[in-house]
Amino acid sequence: MTIIQDCLKKKTTKEKPIWLMRQAGRYLPEFRKIRKLNPNFIKLCLNNKLSTQITLQPLKRFELDAAIVFSDILMVPYALNQEIEFKKNFGPKLGSLSLNTLSNIKKKDFLQKLNPIYKTINKVKKNNLTKNKDVIGFVGAPWTLLVYMINKHSPKKKLIKDFFKDKILLNEIMFILDKFIKIHIDQQIKSGSTIIQIFDSWAGLLNKKDLFNYVYNPTLKLVNYVKSLRTPVVCFPRGIENYIDYTNFIKPDVISIDYEVDPKYILKNIKIPVQGGLNPKFLLSSKENLKKEALKYLDLFKDHPYIFNLGHGVMPQTKPDMIDYLVKLVKDY
Ligand code: CP3
Repeated sequence: MTIIQDCLKKKTTKEKPIWLMRQAGRYLPEFRKIRKLNPNFIKLCLNNKLSTQITLQPLKRFELDAAIVFSDILMVPYALNQEIEFKKNFGPKLGSLSLNTLSNIKKKDFLQKLNPIYKTINKVKKNNLTKNKDVIGFVGAPWTLLVYMINKHSPKKKLIKDFFKDKILLNEIMFILDKFIKIHIDQQIKSGSTIIQIFDSWAGLLNKKDLFNYVYNPTLKLVNYVKSLRTPVVCFPRGIENYIDYTNFIKPDVISIDYEVDPKYILKNIKIPVQGGLNPKFLLSSKENLKKEALKYLDLFKDHPYIFNLGHGVMPQTKPDMIDYLVKLVKDY
């Protein structure tokens, strides 16, 4: 039994488990070294030798309780044959979308395109560094993938003007996404993932009226699917206004919170295990300040099943020494 699985059984573990979103990434010089030689991000995600190495890099340095496979939520649209490019200082840029192409994708071809990711998971799972630890697989929620597929780039604060114009197209894409996200989840679990996290990075963009249609109902379907595979599921609906309604409706095994929500309010109103919250920008401040902020979460969730994590990913400017300090702080608490 891993420490995270103990925590998920709603036990309040004496030691708090910790892993970090984007724990493998640009803040690590050993990642930047590989990245420099591999300018094509998609190709890097599909290079199972290098992806395995990158996934394990943070576990070599820090006493983390889980590995998260080095891949991206946009590998699903990629495998659905939408062109994707990651441009420096811009982020992802997606190509045009053809419903005709999308509707004709076969499961076999989809799995073949993503096969290197499954190989990576398998290698990570077998590596000694993950012994008695979890290997986290993940997907983007249908809504967040829809946002990228239609918007074609990160929406920052708002969607393109005509986003909701063609409702039939949106519903068709949501239907196709449901099918292939489930296939991707299933294959990650078969390859060795012991937990699935669903990232809904743009959940906060919707008004109440559209939330049921695009976030609540589609996510509930995925969560129930992961549960049917007897695997714990974590949901991260970043920026959502009402974490309570979301949690009560979707009932994930763990709710991962962003840094804008008041953790006191979460503790008071949410009975399931909680993950995350700390603003990653505190990793850019002083150790004293980081300690003060991290202790807020540790003290508050002392008697609640809690997985320590951030309220969003580690920022590229972060010094690895600060991560080291944070992990030790949590482990020695
Ligand atoms: O360590 C991990 O957390 C595992 C790997 C992982 C990546 N992306 C690697 C990555 C995970 C879980 C993701 C999820 C992801 N990807 C999300 C959901 C979480 C979130 O951040 O809200 C989203 C929205 C994406 C889409 C995406 N991928 C964007 C917008 C960008 C560019 C901006 C940025 O943050 O760099 C990426 C690129 C990306 N994905 C990088 C990494 C390590 C940076 C690649 C590089 O330039 O070296």
